[in-house]
Amino acid sequence: MISSNPFTPQSGWEPKIFGGRSRELEIFKSNLDGALDARPSHLIVLGEWGVGKTSLLKQFRRISQENGFPAAFCGISKFTEKNKALDAIHLIAEEMVMGFPKIDTVQKNLLELFSKRKSLSNGQVQFTKFLLELWKALDTKLAVVLLDDIQNLMEVSNTIDILRAVLSSDNVIKETRFLFILSSTPLGWESFIDKHDPVGRFFRKRLNAENLEKSEAMATIDMTLRGTGVVFEECIRKNIFKYTGGHPYEVQLLASHLYDSQIEGRVNTDSWDNALNNTLKELGRDYFNFLLSKASDREKDLLKILAEEKKPITIKDFTTMMIVGKRAKKFPIANIKNFLYRLEEKGLVRRMENSGFYIQDLMFSEFIARFALE
Ligand SMILES: Nc1ncnc2c1ncn2[C@@H]1O[C@H](COP(=O)(O)OP(=O)(O)OP(=O)(O)O)[C@@H](O)[C@H]1O
Ligand SMILES: [Mg+2]
Repeated sequence: MISSNPFTPQSGWEPKIFGGRSRELEIFKSNLDGALDARPSHLIVLGEWGVGKTSLLKQFRRISQENGFPAAFCGISKFTEKNKALDAIHLIAEEMVMGFPKIDTVQKNLLELFSKRKSLSNGQVQFTKFLLELWKALDTKLAVVLLDDIQNLMEVSNTIDILRAVLSSDNVIKETRFLFILSSTPLGWESFIDKHDPVGRFFRKRLNAENLEKSEAMATIDMTLRGTGVVFEECIRKNIFKYTGGHPYEVQLLASHLYDSQIEGRVNTDSWDNALNNTLKELGRDYFNFLLSKASDREKDLLKILAEEKKPITIKDFTTMMIVGKRAKKFPIANIKNFLYRLEEKGLVRRMENSGFYIQDLMFSEFIARFALE
């Protein structure tokens, strides 16, 4: 009997097997211990799209609760410039009330602290009162609050400044013990520290969520498959890492498509091309089309060459290619250098000293070669 697909190719779905991240989990544990006797040192987890921020925060929640400390996970939805910081603060409070166990009885009273929706300074006062009251209701030594996707508050960025002000106020420090863990994309977080320097200093400790190492990614795949009745052949396992570079979402998506193509419980090279195609189509819809839309038409011509050649190319080689050979075409040769530097600035290509430009993410490169343009 073959089990149903054990992979979790969805944003925010906790993986069946949580791979790697031992360093991040250690840091969190030591922060948790430290927060018992000293002022909590709040953390920010930074990571790009799909790299596993939400899943990591959910692990932190599990560890907190295992150690007897209540933890509330709060997903921050997208705010626009029409919203006020007070709306955002109110949402955070609501999510906290819902996230902590045994709070529902006092829930109504707690949120009534927000009934008079007025000015900015009010937001700060109200959130302070809220934390003080919530603390009493929680009856614990330490409580953990996980705020996921802080970049969604970018348009009302003073929310984070209010949070900082509240958490560093005397009352809150003396009377409560909340440990806050935030997550954000690196770009989103930059926007807060640009405008509000104290915020950057307050959430000093940063954890960078990155791709899984080869051994971690392979172990995750093997353990996820265990007991399902499906086996991936060695070349398939190796190819998954080669193509995804250990990016957690890409690993889950590709492995999920491969799993669905099993014949009598085996997945071999016959399945590869089709599974990769389906994966790339989905990645295109989720992210790659957006990434590609940052390039101009001329820049896309160069990207396509890089994707097809699958190796670093120098400015000189590009120029020659445009003049002679199968790629020769009418192209503003004098501007090749500018186009390439622009692509680098936009994060679409990388540059290697002396050997030229290349596309770092092999999945993105395959996507361009197979689907982009023409
Ligand atoms: N440590 C891990 N081991 C195995 N799979 C993981 C791990 N972390 C995340 N994943 C998987 O990767 C995918 C993306 O994870 P997650 O949603 O946590 O990332 P994210 O950074 O929060 O993404 P988003 O940018 O969409 O918010 C999910 O399919 C999840 O199951
Ligand atoms: Mg997420």
